[in-house]
Amino acid sequence: MSNKVLEKALNEQLNAEFYSSYLYLSMSAYFSDIGLSGFANWMRVQAQEEQFHALKFYDYINERGGRVILSSIDSPQTEWESPLDCVKGVLEHEKKVTSLINNLVDLAITEKDHATNIFLQWFVTEQVEEEDSVNEVLNKLKLIDGKGNGMFILDKELALRVFTPPTTA
Ligand code: FEO
Repeated sequence: MSNKVLEKALNEQLNAEFYSSYLYLSMSAYFSDIGLSGFANWMRVQAQEEQFHALKFYDYINERGGRVILSSIDSPQTEWESPLDCVKGVLEHEKKVTSLINNLVDLAITEKDHATNIFLQWFVTEQVEEEDSVNEVLNKLKLIDGKGNGMFILDKELALRVFTPPTTA
């Protein structure tokens, strides 16, 4: 990739996506531990989606003749106070990712790399969908206030989520 500033930034985002996957897998382990297997399934699917995102960056860097550099992934948080605390953490994290993507778009524009700007638009759209779907779960969780029957139903609903690679890839 001729633009080394962008190449470095894309590699950093590749690492950030793998970190997201690691964090969500850690959340999945937390939910398994407290007996919410549906929530655990949901976070495992989220972790798979993040790996998919990481590999999209991987392929794009290669496609542009850049060099993929894999760097160490930070240890994720392992404990949360409650399911609500954990799902709030997901939304917070997704908002952080959205700002990282927006910063990358800004950089692509500053660097006049139109192809990278177009590539990143997929992620801009994806972040709207990601924040929306986490918000939906968070709102339901707030509504049932962590109570028995509601938790049982929501857990069953989340057990049905499956990973389907996005068609726009
Ligand atoms: Fe890769 Fe959930 O953003």
